[in-house]
Amino acid sequence: MARSALLNVMVQAALKAGKSLARDFGEVQNLQVSVKGPGDFVSQADFRAEKIVKEELLKARPTYGFLGEEGEEIIGTDGSHRWLVDPLDGTTNFLHGIPQFAVSIALERNGEVVAGVVFNPATDELFTAERGGGAFLNDRRLRVAARKTLSDCVIGCGIPHLGKSNHGKFLLELRHVMGEVSGVRRIGSAALDLAYVAAGRFDGFWETHLNAWDIAAGLILIREAGGFTSDTDGGTDMLSTGTVVAGNEYIQKALLEVIGRPVPKA
Ligand code: IPD
Ligand code: CA
Ligand code: CA
Repeated sequence: MARSALLNVMVQAALKAGKSLARDFGEVQNLQVSVKGPGDFVSQADFRAEKIVKEELLKARPTYGFLGEEGEEIIGTDGSHRWLVDPLDGTTNFLHGIPQFAVSIALERNGEVVAGVVFNPATDELFTAERGGGAFLNDRRLRVAARKTLSDCVIGCGIPHLGKSNHGKFLLELRHVMGEVSGVRRIGSAALDLAYVAAGRFDGFWETHLNAWDIAAGLILIREAGGFTSDTDGGTDMLSTGTVVAGNEYIQKALLEVIGRPVPKA
C-alpha cells in the first residue's frame, strides 16, 4: 500500500495525537472536564489532541484552512484546501473508560473530501483512504459487506441524548429498523461507526445531528471501500445536513427507505 505524502502527514498527526489520548485514557480520572452543553463534555485530552493535530498539519501545509471541533476555524490563504478534524470522537466513551474513540482527520479540496484517517489508539486500528486509492485498515484493503437483504444485517446508529432534539423521530426510525434487521448497535463514535461500515463490520449505519468533523473522514473510507452514503433526504450534502445513511448499494437504499417510513397508524 503506497500512501501519498499528504496522507502520510495525516497519519503521522493521527498517531501522535493518538499517543497523547492513550496516555490520558490511562489517567482519565485525573483529567479536567468541562461541560459545553447538556450531555456534551470536553476534556484536557480533547484540547491536547487537537493542538497536536493542528501543529502537525499546519507545519506540513501552512496555507491550508483548519476546522477542528475545539477551536476557532483558521481560514487558509490557499482557499481550496481545508482540514476537518475531530481530535477525539467518542468523548463520552473516553471519559467512561470505554475504549471506543478515535482521532478523525479529513482533507477537503474545493469542497470535496479527498483523504481521510480514523485512528483508534485503544485498539491500534488505523483506517485510511484517499480518493481513487482504496480504503485500508492498517495494511489490509477494505471492502464493505456484501449482504443484500436487511434481515441478514447488523446496523449501527447514533442515539440522541440529553440536549439533542428529535428523540421521538429517532424512536420511530429505530422502531422501523429494528423490525427488519438482525441487530442494531450503538458504538458512540460516529467516525468509528463509518469506519466499521467501510470494514464490513456493520452492514449499514444511520445518524442525524452530526458535524462535518465527525463524518468527513468516515465518508471517504466508505466510498473507497465500495460503499454508498447519502443524507437522510437521499441527497449528497452530508457535511452540511449532518445526517448520514450508509451501506453497500443495496443496504444503503433499503435503510434510507426504512428510516423514512411514516408513523404507523394506531
Ligand atoms: C459524538 C460521537 C457520537 C455521536 C455524537 C457526536 P464527540 O462526537 O460521534 O457517536 O452520536 O452525535 O457528537 O462529541 O464524542 O466528539
Ligand atoms: Ca465528534
Ligand atoms: Ca470530539
